[in-house]
Amino acid sequence: MDNGWDASADAWIADQGDAGDFSRRHVLDAPMQARVRAAAPARVLDVGCGEGRFCRWLGSAGFACVGVDPAEALLAEARRRDPGGDYRAGRAERLDVGDASFDMVVFYLTLIDIEDMRAALTEAVRVLAPGGRVLIANLQAYNTASALFEKLDSGARRLVMARYLEEHDRWDEWRGIRIRNWHRPLSAYMTCLLDLGLSLTCFEEPCATGGPDRARASYNHAPYHFMMEWRLPAPTG
Ligand SMILES: C[S@@+](CC[C@H](N)C(=O)[O-])C[C@H]1O[C@@H](n2cnc3c(N)ncnc32)[C@H](O)[C@@H]1O
Repeated sequence: MDNGWDASADAWIADQGDAGDFSRRHVLDAPMQARVRAAAPARVLDVGCGEGRFCRWLGSAGFACVGVDPAEALLAEARRRDPGGDYRAGRAERLDVGDASFDMVVFYLTLIDIEDMRAALTEAVRVLAPGGRVLIANLQAYNTASALFEKLDSGARRLVMARYLEEHDRWDEWRGIRIRNWHRPLSAYMTCLLDLGLSLTCFEEPCATGGPDRARASYNHAPYHFMMEWRLPAPTG
């Protein structure tokens, strides 16, 4: 089913630039990178790697990384910017990699883009070695359930939320990008990961730590994202 990523690739690449957008640069990169450094995984799989920005950071920080994405135009850009990188066409729901072949699987703002989140997380667990980790950055569920901001007389903004408890898709549009996102209540992600036998090792609601004051204030009014790390049981004995 079309999710808009092929048609949005040029606008997405222009929007991200080299450093990524506000959320990546000023909110998520620091805690995501800190978790990778703390775990020191030998092999990382970046699912939904897009134009390869996080893979490039992983490579520059010394972590062996494979990026997977279904959007050919994004993969072509990833390969152009990082000719030595390992970028493969594929979908999260059916990964063409062997069992237990990675120590960390990253979903950096991609679970919201993946239609079958349960299949994707099941695959992540299949390809993880014992003791391996799933590292997730996602939009808050109240955020994906909200279709609109209302500006109040005070200048504050109010989010209008609907259908929080119901999984549903919606099309989002900004700066020439038009893509389909999937809303699920937070409990849907947590229940799925628990049912897969993973243990939660980190949960954060990171705030913006840089960028212009005005943008930072709007991000820090309420957390826009959550970040979590889950771990497969390590071998005993
Ligand atoms: C919001 S972008 C995030 C890209 C990158 N992880 C980043 O943080 O910049 C979502 C990405 O998910 C990819 N995607 C969409 N459906 C997917 C699927 N079924 N399996 C894997 N990736 C998918 C899109 O092609 C796109 O590159």
